[in-house]
Formats: sequence, structure tokens, C-alpha cells
Amino acid sequence: MNQPIGMIDSGVGGVSVLFEALRLLPEERFLFYGDNANAPYGDQPLERIQANTARCVEKLLSQGIKALLIACNTATSAYAAQLRATLAIPVIGMEPALKPASSLRHGGQVLVLATDATLHLEKFHRLMQLYGQDAVPVVGKGIVELVEAGKACSKEMEALLARLLEPYLRRQTDALVLGCTHYIFLKPLLERLLPGVPLVDGNLGTVRQLRRVLCQQGLLAPEGSKGGYTLMSSGGPEYTCLMERLLRSLDPATPSADEACADALRQERTK
Ligand code: DGL
Repeated sequence: MNQPIGMIDSGVGGVSVLFEALRLLPEERFLFYGDNANAPYGDQPLERIQANTARCVEKLLSQGIKALLIACNTATSAYAAQLRATLAIPVIGMEPALKPASSLRHGGQVLVLATDATLHLEKFHRLMQLYGQDAVPVVGKGIVELVEAGKACSKEMEALLARLLEPYLRRQTDALVLGCTHYIFLKPLLERLLPGVPLVDGNLGTVRQLRRVLCQQGLLAPEGSKGGYTLMSSGGPEYTCLMERLLRSLDPATPSADEACADALRQERTK
């Protein structure tokens, strides 16, 4: 079936999921819609997150998508159940990867960095009951705003992360869960701040689930189809440019994200 797959996020973060999707499903076409004009979602009341998400989904449904991937932990927690109950197409969502991270525990804590909404909605409480032993939720307040401003690798971000994580650095940390798709772009800074601590995210697992569902429902693109992606934003072309730049920063063929980040920080310091 050669219709596109829709992907949504509050903003640019979801392109980190798109990156994995393009690798795992190279024959599929993806329509990515970032709601940059209304980001961040994570500090908004539930009803606003739901209304924003519904608008994004409408946009993609009008383009004939065959499946929807919610590349946003916050929107999934707030609205995936309702979407699954009402849409005729498969809906794949995300959750902080606490389950795989909990298997890395060896006496220390598992930090779960996510948005305020993700950490306070019902879905996360259920996850904590199942896998939350020694898990410590940490609200990533202010991170999404900086990523949206193109400052994923900046002195400001370095200082913000140090401040957010400082209260937790005295205990042994066995893993850090990146529970928001925007946080994938912080890996180089986090690796410096928490050397040797595994950073766990749900991107690959989510895309594998998408592939499984497409396969089970006979929705995979015919063999030999030309895959690709289209980026769209409620915030205008500067955001689609930022998405493109962030997408490329994850490609191992370009200078490593770590080098690019070190470079960006060096340039800032010499300003
Ligand atoms: N990428 C969204 C997530 O995964 C960011 C949420 C926000 O906009 O605050 O949760």
C-alpha cells in the first residue's frame, strides 16, 4: 500500500524518530508535521495538548495517511487512547523507555527526564508501577524551548542540564531515560555530564513497533517503492530548516554529533 505514514510532534524533536524510521523503512514515505507554533506542549493543560494534537492529526488525515506515528511522548500520554478509539488507521505512540532502562539497574538510580505533562499523566504512573523501582522522574523544564530555538548544543543548554541534574549527581546513576524526543539531540552534552551512564530512548523500539504493525496489517509499501519524507510545520519555513539540520546531525555520514556539538560550543566561547 503506497500511501504515506503520518508523523507528528509538538516541534522539531520528532525528527529524531523520523531518522530511525527512514533507516528501518526505506521504502516508505513519511509526512512529518511539527506543531512548532504551539510548542512546547509539556507545560500546557491536558485539554490544550489534546486540542493541538487533534489539529495536527486532522492535517495529516486530509493527506490520506495509512498510519499515524505520534513521535511525542507528551502527545501520546495526553491523546493516543482517544485517537486509537476513533481513527480507522493504526496509531503508534511513544512512552519513556523505562522498561529497557530498568534492566540496567545495579544498585543505583534510573533517572527519567521528560516533560512535566508526560511525568504527571496516568500513562507514566502505570509505567512507574510496573518498572519504576529506583526510578526518579526529572522534569526537563526549559529544554524543549532551547532545542526549538536551535540551541541543542549551546552554553545555555549545558548550564540548564547541569542545573536540572545537579540534585541527582551524588547518587550512583545506572541509566538516564530520554523521555522526550527533543532530548535525543542532547546526547553529546549529557554524555559529558554523566560519563559512562547509558542514555536510553524509545525511538528504535517505536519504529520497530510501527514496522510490525504495518506488516501485520498488510500496509507495507510494495517492494521497490521509492521512500522519502516531507517536513511540514505550523511555525513556518525556519522550523523546517531546523528540522532538516537536526535530522542531518544524526547521520553518521556527517561529522559526528559530538564533534558538531563541540564545534558549536567552541564557536560560542570564542564569540
Ligand atoms: N517531543 C515532545 C515529547 O516527546 C516534546 C514535548 C513538548 O513539546 O514539551 O514529549
